[in-house]
Amino acid sequence: MPAQPIVIGLIGAGFAASFHVENYRRVPGLDIRIKGVTSQNPHRTAEFARKHQLEQTYASVEALLADPEINLVDLCIPNYLHHPLTLQAAAAGKNIVCEKPLTGYFAAANSADRHQMFERALKNADEMVRSIAQNKVAFCYGENWVYAPSIQKADHALAQSDNTILRIVAEECHSGTHSPYAKEWRYSGGGALFNKGCHPVGAALYLKYSEGLRKKGKPIKPTSVVAEVANLTRSESFVSEDEKWIQTGWKDCEDWGSMLLQFEDDSVAQLTAADIVLGGIQNLLTAYASKAVVQCNINPNTGMLTYAPADRLLGDEYIREKLETRAGWQFTNPDEDWMNGFPHELQDFCEAIAHGRAPKSTIELGRDVMAVCYGAYVAAASGRRFDLSEWM
Ligand SMILES: NC(=O)c1ccc[n+]([C@@H]2O[C@H](COP(=O)([O-])OP(=O)(O)OC[C@H]3O[C@@H](n4cnc5c(N)ncnc54)[C@H](O)[C@@H]3O)[C@@H](O)[C@H]2O)c1
Repeated sequence: MPAQPIVIGLIGAGFAASFHVENYRRVPGLDIRIKGVTSQNPHRTAEFARKHQLEQTYASVEALLADPEINLVDLCIPNYLHHPLTLQAAAAGKNIVCEKPLTGYFAAANSADRHQMFERALKNADEMVRSIAQNKVAFCYGENWVYAPSIQKADHALAQSDNTILRIVAEECHSGTHSPYAKEWRYSGGGALFNKGCHPVGAALYLKYSEGLRKKGKPIKPTSVVAEVANLTRSESFVSEDEKWIQTGWKDCEDWGSMLLQFEDDSVAQLTAADIVLGGIQNLLTAYASKAVVQCNINPNTGMLTYAPADRLLGDEYIREKLETRAGWQFTNPDEDWMNGFPHELQDFCEAIAHGRAPKSTIELGRDVMAVCYGAYVAAASGRRFDLSEWM
C-alpha cells in the first residue's frame, strides 16, 4: 500500500517547534508537507512561518484543526496544554505528535498533597489514552532519548546475548531552562525531576521494556521508587553570591531531584535531573548488564573537540546546548540534533502514521514515565518507598 502523505500543522512556535521543523525536513522517503503554524503570539507565529518558509499561519488552534488537509498536529506547547489539546485534536480526527512530558498535575504545588497530584496526573494521562483509542488516531510521544542513536545502538548491542540489565545510571542536567513556563508548576507540572528527569526515565523504561519483550514477550515494568528533591539555588550561600551563572527564579518547582527505581526483575535505575549544572547539557546513560556495559554519551561526547583561547574567536558558531563559553577545550557537537535523536524520532513518527503502525515511543511509555515521576514526588514528600505496581 502506498504511504499516506503527511500534512503537518504545528501548535507552538518556540524552541521545540523550531527543532521539529528543522528535523521534519531531514526525513527521507516520505511525502511530508509542513503546512502551517499557530501559537499564542500572532507576531511570533508570523515570524516563525516566515523564517521556516511555511505556507500559512492560523489565527487559532480551532482554525488549524478545521483545516481538512492537516492530518498530523504537532503539539510544541507548554506541558499544561498537552492534555486538553490532545483531547481537542483527537476529537477533530487528527494524528498527534506531542512533546514530553505527556501531562501532569497543573496547579500551584507548594502545599498540594502529592498523592492527590499523582492521581490527578494519572487521570489526565488515562483520558488521553482513551481519547486516542476512541477517535482511532495515532499518538507519538516525543521522547527523543528513545531515538538517540547511542540508546538505539545500546538496545541492539544488548540484544546480541541474553543480557539482563542489572543497573542503569542516567542523568539530564544543565544550568536551567530558558522557558518561563518551566518555573511554575501550574504550567510545567513539576521541576527538574519531572521536566528533565522524564528523559532518563523514558530511556531506562524503554531499555527494560525492550529487554522484557525480547525475553518473555512483555515489558519489564517498574515496581517502586524512592526519591529526594531540593531547591539548591535557594541555599543561603548561593543566594548571597553577586554573580549568577545558574538560572534562578523557580516559583514552586525544584531544581534538583534524584530517584532510585526498582523493576519487577529486581534490577534498578539511579536517575538524576538538575538545573544547577554548568558546562553545557549532560545527557548521559550507562547500562550495566550481565554480559556487557554500554555507555551512551548523548551530550557531551568527543565526536569533535575545539579549542580557542577566547570566546569571541569562534564568533557565533554553535558549540552545544546551554554552554556558557566557547573558550578553552570544548565538546563541540557537529550535529547535536542527530545525537539527540530528533531526525530519527520524527522519521519514526512520520513512517508510523504513513504506514499505520505504532511508533517506538508510545503514549503508554509517556504515561508510565509520568507515573514514575509523580510516584517519585510522593516518595520524596513522605520519605518512604512508593509502590508503583498497581499503577503499571
Ligand atoms: N525533547 C526535548 O528535548 C525538548 C526540549 C525543549 C522543550 N521540549 C518540550 O516542548 C514543549 C514546548 O517547550 P518550548 O521550549 O518550545 O517552549 P517555548 O516557551 O519556547 O514555546 C511554547 C510555544 O507554545 C505557544 N503557546 C502557549 N500557549 C498556547 C496556546 N494556548 N495556544 C497555542 N500556542 C500556545 C507559545 O506561543 C510558544 O510559541 C514543552 O512540553 C517542553 O517540555 C522538549
